[in-house]
Amino acid sequence: TVADLQGLKQGQLKLSVITTAKYVIPRLLGPFCQRYPGIDISLKVTNHEGLQERLNDNLDDLYILSQPPATPDVCCHEFLDNPLVVLAPINHPLASQKNIPIERLNGEPFIMREPGSGTRQAVQKMFEDRGVAVKVRLDLGSNEAIKQAIAGGLGISVLSRHVLTLDGWQHQLTILDVEGFPIPRQWYAIYPSGKQLSVVARTFFEYLLNEGKQAIENSTRLAQQQSE
Ligand code: PGA
Repeated sequence: TVADLQGLKQGQLKLSVITTAKYVIPRLLGPFCQRYPGIDISLKVTNHEGLQERLNDNLDDLYILSQPPATPDVCCHEFLDNPLVVLAPINHPLASQKNIPIERLNGEPFIMREPGSGTRQAVQKMFEDRGVAVKVRLDLGSNEAIKQAIAGGLGISVLSRHVLTLDGWQHQLTILDVEGFPIPRQWYAIYPSGKQLSVVARTFFEYLLNEGKQAIENSTRLAQQQSE
């Protein structure tokens, strides 16, 4: 477009992000939009499978996910850690224990993300590799609902540590110190390698890679100070 040719930073940015990135990306967009008031954003939040479909259909400018697709034809840049942790209600019998052997989770009531979720895949792989059989009580397609279910005593779960960001859950949920956890993962920003990014998309991509981590830390610190 003409705006692209002139290098004007205005237009639309279409992003799609996996469910856990919604705890972080919207907070990054504030400072970004202040810097570039001409940029409008459309943000889609979905699970790993949904994101893969959007990528295949070339629906967005940039995609944020934690398992890079197996296909080689994407440009893929890591920008932040996204560890998976074991979450339990604060009064769980294992809450105060250190170095809990993973076998100890055998038979433990468990709340699992829905099929199509990248979190689910990673958790299932870990349990399979280690021969652990949890007792899945519930399949739930929402990190928020899983937090509620854990707090309500339905079981434990494994979710991204980012789902705990900013919201006072420390009074209801705790992270169990289980051997093999956290499962280390990262968030990646990706786009099809054949695709020429618009000026707007390139501007956001560079912002994310160069300043994303710092901007997230700043906004988390600010929110923590305000809640103290
Ligand atoms: P999911 O991905 O929503 O597909 O589970 C989240 C994540 O990988 O952090």
